[in-house]
Amino acid sequence: MIRLPMLIGGEEVFKDEVIDVIYPYNQQKVGEAVKGSVEDVEKAVEKAKVGLKKLKQLTAYEKYKILLKVAQLLEERKDEFAKVITLETGKTIKESRVEVERAINTITFSAEEAKRIGGEVVHFDASPNGRGKRGYYFRVPAGIVAAITPFNFPVNLTAHKIAPAIAAGCPFILKPSEKTPLSPTMLCQLFLEAGVPKEAVSIIPGFADVGQAMTTHPDVRVVSFTGSLKVGEIIAKQAGLKKIVMELGSNSAVIVDKDANLELAAKKSVLGGFALAGQVCISVQRVLVHKEVADEFENLLKKEASKLKYGDPMEEDTDVGPVISINEVDRIQTWISEAVMKGAKVSLGGQAEKTLFKPTIVSEVPEDSKLFYEEAFAPVVAVKRFETIEEAIEMVNKTNYGLQVGIFTNNLKNAWKVIEEVEVGGVMVNDIPTFRADNMPYGGVKGSGIGREGPKFAIEDYTEIKVVAFDLNA
Ligand code: SIN
Repeated sequence: MIRLPMLIGGEEVFKDEVIDVIYPYNQQKVGEAVKGSVEDVEKAVEKAKVGLKKLKQLTAYEKYKILLKVAQLLEERKDEFAKVITLETGKTIKESRVEVERAINTITFSAEEAKRIGGEVVHFDASPNGRGKRGYYFRVPAGIVAAITPFNFPVNLTAHKIAPAIAAGCPFILKPSEKTPLSPTMLCQLFLEAGVPKEAVSIIPGFADVGQAMTTHPDVRVVSFTGSLKVGEIIAKQAGLKKIVMELGSNSAVIVDKDANLELAAKKSVLGGFALAGQVCISVQRVLVHKEVADEFENLLKKEASKLKYGDPMEEDTDVGPVISINEVDRIQTWISEAVMKGAKVSLGGQAEKTLFKPTIVSEVPEDSKLFYEEAFAPVVAVKRFETIEEAIEMVNKTNYGLQVGIFTNNLKNAWKVIEEVEVGGVMVNDIPTFRADNMPYGGVKGSGIGREGPKFAIEDYTEIKVVAFDLNA
């Protein structure tokens, strides 16, 4: 049983009121975190004001060294972190190890970016009123960051918010998902151990009241949220005049063109559709396949998906673990039934044993079913056929989401058409939308969010531009 405190300005706080952490595979309690309150947020903000001042005293080189130290400490404890991630999320131990490796990279990239936060010379004299003016702009920390993270990548998506915050010189107050508060707390402890000023580090596990107190607090300057569109919209309305970064949902599509390498497309689509039991914003939810190759491709897809071993996430050879909760199983079943009632066919899976949902493929999914236009966040791949590339692009753009898309094709013209016409934040050619490198700009358009993560890009949101003009005429 893992019991962890919350951290308010780096100080450990234990309370009687706790949040139980449940292992999704067998629904056993594996740990508990302290349940935070609105008063805790108030205290954390007061500490963070001191943290902001202390961070301002650090040079870029010192922030770089501290963040490198965090990465090194995480490297030393990576097995322990991986195990806790699996216990909290139910993702397979193989997947948890990859997550920890990715977090080490994310923190290292953030360390490197700490040394590159700069500005540029402004050519004032290109303006009619700029004669004799010289100057530049540079970036300053935006202030206190409120970070809210989801359950699916509790360490890496936390690293994506808090490591760039420290690189930018911003203290943070973090609310992790109430389902997975343990590994983010452990990560914050590493930040303290590495030498981040303690007042700059707060983590408050809790529920909507804590989130609301953080995102509406007048002294918080940046809100960085990863989660559902519904909650993102509420936060955006309430946040007022703050900088907001939103990484919201998606129903990411992969387009399989008629001249694609079908085996590769099928293998990768299975990887992207069922990793983390489909609980990834960029998981392959919709496969749009050219009708001339659809039968062959669907057979390959089924063959590849049938090879997956689903079950105990702690076993080394398990490919697909459980979904996060029983409620999710019920929701997924309802969505599949809806699609079937509207004419779809379940060609693989469709059943669940408690939280273990069999990798599922649903064919001929109508466009007016939730499996097509909502975010499934489940081990379910919906297949739909198209006749022209224009039709495929229209299907991608039809829904409210726009995070990433993949296209498998050897037709350059079609690849370019897709790149130029799809309304998304990222296009992966001859790859699945699930591809993410932790230094790339990552984020979406429309209902998928605002702003980009990836340390270099997050730092842009965590800083304000200050411009300086010298008047040589004076
Ligand atoms: C997400 O679910 O948005 C994160 C995906 C990733 O980092 O791979």
